[in-house]
Amino acid sequence: MKLIAAQATDAPGLAALHATAFPAGAAWSAGTITTLLAMEGVFGLHAPGGFILARRVLDEAEILTLAVHPAHRQQGLGLALVETSALVAATAGARVMFLEVDEANAPAMALYTKAGFAQAGLRRDYYAPGRHAWLLRRSLEA
Ligand SMILES: CC(C)(COP(=O)(O)OP(=O)(O)OC[C@H]1O[C@@H](n2cnc3c(N)ncnc32)[C@H](O)[C@@H]1OP(=O)(O)O)[C@@H](O)C(=O)NCCC(=O)NCCS
Repeated sequence: MKLIAAQATDAPGLAALHATAFPAGAAWSAGTITTLLAMEGVFGLHAPGGFILARRVLDEAEILTLAVHPAHRQQGLGLALVETSALVAATAGARVMFLEVDEANAPAMALYTKAGFAQAGLRRDYYAPGRHAWLLRRSLEA
């Protein structure tokens, strides 16, 4: 599975993909993705059917978003995007990776657990009142 580094010109396509993976109110626009990609330390990887955006600052990395089109799910793409972003971040100097995930998002929780992430805290009312997020953490050290 070939993953490609995301560039600003990919933003419209990535936004269209994001809209297939998240509810309308949570989908990111091409402008938002362009702005993120221009920020220091932010990088993206994509393949037909999915993409990930992450950020590395010094020795910490964070997954900003992960989206796989419904027609491309459960074929290993999400895991490949997470594992490759972890490798890219570690190669650039990150020693730990974090992300926030909706506690009710069972597929994502299962994926991140499989990728070696563990619960590091609960962010109450993170998405909306009563909708909490787990802060997940994974060491990137060998
Ligand atoms: C979560 C998401 C990225 C998973 O992508 P994917 O390409 O289907 O995931 P993979 O095929 O790589 O699955 C890897 C592992 O995740 C788990 N998993 C994935 N989808 C699952 C599901 N529907 N139910 C249970 N476990 C699931 C499994 O452990 C799977 O390993 P297995 O195939 O050996 O059982 C995808 O469902 C998605 O885009 N969802 C909407 C957006 C989202 O929730 N993004 C994450 C926000 S933090």
